[in-house]
Order: sequence, then C-alpha cells, then structure tokens
Amino acid sequence: MKEELKRISAEALSEIAGASSEAELEAARVKYSGKKGQLTAILRGMGALEPEARREVGELANAVRGELEAAIADKAATLKRAALEARLASEKLDVTLPGREKACGRLHPLHTVENRIREIFIGMGFTVVEGPEIESAYNNFDALNAPADHPSRDFQDTFYIDETTLLRTQTSPVQIRAMTGKTPPIRVISPGRVYRSDDVDATHSPMFHQVEGLVVDKGITMADLKGTLDLFARSLFGEETRTRFRPHNFPFTEPSAEVDVSCFVCGGKGCRLCKGEGWIEILGAGMVHPNVLASCGIDPEVYSGFAFGMGIERVAMRRYNINDMRLFFENDVRFLSQF
Ligand code: PHE
Repeated sequence: MKEELKRISAEALSEIAGASSEAELEAARVKYSGKKGQLTAILRGMGALEPEARREVGELANAVRGELEAAIADKAATLKRAALEARLASEKLDVTLPGREKACGRLHPLHTVENRIREIFIGMGFTVVEGPEIESAYNNFDALNAPADHPSRDFQDTFYIDETTLLRTQTSPVQIRAMTGKTPPIRVISPGRVYRSDDVDATHSPMFHQVEGLVVDKGITMADLKGTLDLFARSLFGEETRTRFRPHNFPFTEPSAEVDVSCFVCGGKGCRLCKGEGWIEILGAGMVHPNVLASCGIDPEVYSGFAFGMGIERVAMRRYNINDMRLFFENDVRFLSQF
C-alpha cells in the first residue's frame, strides 16, 4: 500500500504540474482526491489493515493528501495569474486611437438671442417671469386699455378659442399678471411665444416670439426707459449703437414710442440691411398708461412705470443678417448649423 501511495503521489504531482487549464487541473483533483479518487480509495481501504500498518499508511496517506492539496492550490493560482495576463495582453486598450465623435446639437438661433436678452436684463436687476400662451381676452386686451373696437381684437387678427379666451397676441398680458396683487417696485421681463392670424411670408409668421419688459416704482420717468433701452442696445449690438425714439400709439402706454437702433452694419449711413434708413426698428415701448396701473390695483398717483415689447425674430434677423423669417421655423439643419 505504501508503494501504491508513492506511485499515486508521483503520478498526481506530475499531472497537476502538467495541467494547462483550470479544467485539466480539476480533472486531476477528481481523479486522485475526489470522492471516487485513487487516494480516497486507499484511505477508505485502511480499515482492513492491522493497527500498526494502519498508523503508518495513514500518516503517509495524510502527507500525500497535504502535498496534493498544496500542489493544486499552487497550480490554481499560477493558472489564474496566467489567465489574467493573457486577458490583459489580448484586451489591450489603445488610448491613442481617435475617439468616436458624438453628433452634438446646438441652440436654435432664436434661443441664443433670447438667452442673450435675458442675460442683459438680469444684469440690470430684472427678474424673468412667464405667462401662459392661452390667455384671457381680459388680460390680452381689456386690462391693457384696448377699446372694444380696437382693430387688433378683430377675428382676422386674433386666434380666439372662445369669446373670452385666445392665443395671446403679445406678451403684454404678462404686465397685468406681474402687477395684479403686487406692490411695486416691479422689474420684470417675460419672453415667450405670441400668435397672430397672419399669413406666412418673409417677415410674418402666425407664431413668433416677444420679450416684454416692465418697471413700476415711485418716480419712474421716460428718462429711465430711454436709459434702460439705450444700455440694452449697446450691450446687444455693440458699444457704438445708438437708439432713436419715434412717437407712436399703443393703448396701454402713454406716451408711446417705437424704438430704432442705429444700423449695426453701416453704423447709420444707410445700407441694404437698413434699406438706406440708417435705423432699424426693434421694439415698441412707452410709459405704462394710468388706466392699466389702476386696472391692476396700483395707484397711478403714487406709482409710474415703463414697458416695452420687442420681437425676438426681428432682433435675431438683424443680428445674424437673416433676410427671411421662415428660415427660423423650417428646421433645415443646413441653416441651423450655421449658428
Ligand atoms: N405689445 C406691443 C406689440 O406687440 C409692444 C409693446 C409692449 C408696446 C409694451 C409698448 C409697451 O406691438
């Protein structure tokens, strides 16, 4: 039996050493020290031996078992390390390869311009507020002092949802929302979509964007309006830009003005962009009408204010020298990717 053990030991050790994979190693383990293994068989057969021989054989068998277990553990570790090294070698990462570029979207030019306008007014201490696109006729017209027969109320100009609800035709109803139930000082801008029943052409769209501005406090004058819009125009179009106020009429401001900026292509000399005028109209403005303050519960004897509304498409067209408003809404990537 001792001879047998020595043979098993030698054979097993050489098989373990020769195993070239974890599977082969496992096969060797099963063959010798598994439940039906050769070494296990010897250990089982020891019961039949004389006590003296049993002790000797037992000692040797245990020694062989220890040897095999150590050799298996050793080999397993070696195989594992080799497997890891093989993987590291085969899965090598070449960090010098160029990356896979992701197609990246960009802001729509109208958003870029709107963001810039927001930044400028936030810098002057304005807060940005929002109003709904579906608005009451009251906020869009009545509270804004528009008489019942005002032409803008006409079915041909306004998208009505029912008699008292409409798609707002201007951002000015946000003035009403910003003032009602509030105590001045109020200093807000409100960008958003507006709707008018216009046919589409190079300068008209039934949906377009405006930014409303409103300041109400004690002692606000036309000088504040002029100073604010002047600083705005210089911030947006460049330091040399000048503004010009022309008398106009809006129901909700008195006095009212249309505001032009000096053409930033020719600087005022007259060119194709400004059609020889030297000036480009960008917004309507004025001092908030006392009736409007009163309709919002603000005492016009104590407070005064100014308001303005500018067309974002118009500003963007001027700024990027775009000659057709339809380009903004056709979503042609060849156009949009230029900005
Ligand atoms: N709401 C006016 C328009 O759409 C612009 C405006 C706003 C004028 C505020 C004066 C004051 O034309």
